[in-house]
Amino acid sequence: MPRKRTHLSFVDLRPPLNSLFADVVAGLSAPRKSIPPKYFYDARGCELFNAICELPEYYLTRAELSLMRRRATDMARALGPGCALIEIGCGNSEKTRLLLQSLAPVAFVPVDIAWEQLESSCDALSREFPRVRFIAVRADFSQPLALPEFNLPKVQRRALYFPGSTIGNFTREEAAAFLRHMATLLGPGGAALIGVDLKKSRAVLEAAYNDVQGVTAEFNLNVLERINRELQSDFDLSRFRHHAFYNEQQDRIEMHLVSLARQFVNISGNRFEFAEGETLLTEYSYKYSVEEFQLFAAGAGYWPSYVWTDEAGLFSVHYLALP
Ligand code: AVJ
Repeated sequence: MPRKRTHLSFVDLRPPLNSLFADVVAGLSAPRKSIPPKYFYDARGCELFNAICELPEYYLTRAELSLMRRRATDMARALGPGCALIEIGCGNSEKTRLLLQSLAPVAFVPVDIAWEQLESSCDALSREFPRVRFIAVRADFSQPLALPEFNLPKVQRRALYFPGSTIGNFTREEAAAFLRHMATLLGPGGAALIGVDLKKSRAVLEAAYNDVQGVTAEFNLNVLERINRELQSDFDLSRFRHHAFYNEQQDRIEMHLVSLARQFVNISGNRFEFAEGETLLTEYSYKYSVEEFQLFAAGAGYWPSYVWTDEAGLFSVHYLALP
């Protein structure tokens, strides 16, 4: 447990323990097999994801960081004083640090499914920002979220920070539902700052998800290892191969695990057959142009106002206001 600090509290809204089992069984029973990407992030998965962010091919984190370095003060100005800043999916705390420095919010409410990430980033950040009230929430944000009450007297506005292009994990329908749901949590006059990876050449996109060191492959396969450990299943990792490609019709990277042979997998008494070459979908990563995302956000009830992109035009951060 993290050390107690008066301005730092933790709230656990973790989903029931059996949701991994239920989700995996449901995902493997469907005609097109899949596992939700949220299950990547056990301790090892978080470690591997942090390693991905450092890879030469994985431009997203660097592009967004350089954008934050140059533009965090502009973003803070758009959000204004007296914010309660809700961060969803608090991966790399470097970006958050840049925003907190400029924004000086009344409260900071990071939400993540992974305790490991939450603890380590909150521990360091809360030390650096002693005047900000920290309320760390463990929750599954792929489901409608209920935030704990944090009606602090000085809060003038609720703002969402959703960096990292995590919104790209959602299908368009899911992303629209997420934005609408967040709009109700933010309330009238709320605002959102959302990091969105931009469309670009297939070569650059596919390289980012097929690094030569194989870290992304390990990240992808780790979900099977996690399931083996937590559900006593018998996935043979040597009989699955990482496969990531850009689906141009759908504007998304797709990550799959390809079964290298016809095989059976047992999960707590349930038996699943994989044909040779059959794939298990593990992640979508949607890419948007600036205009597409603005139209999309407008459809979910937001007013797209500012948008910032990095110098190379790889990544965007959108400022959206709620009427
Ligand atoms: C954290 C969801 C933004 O889609 O690029 C990185 C996850 N998957 N490499 C992404 C990921 C493979 C990442 N997001």
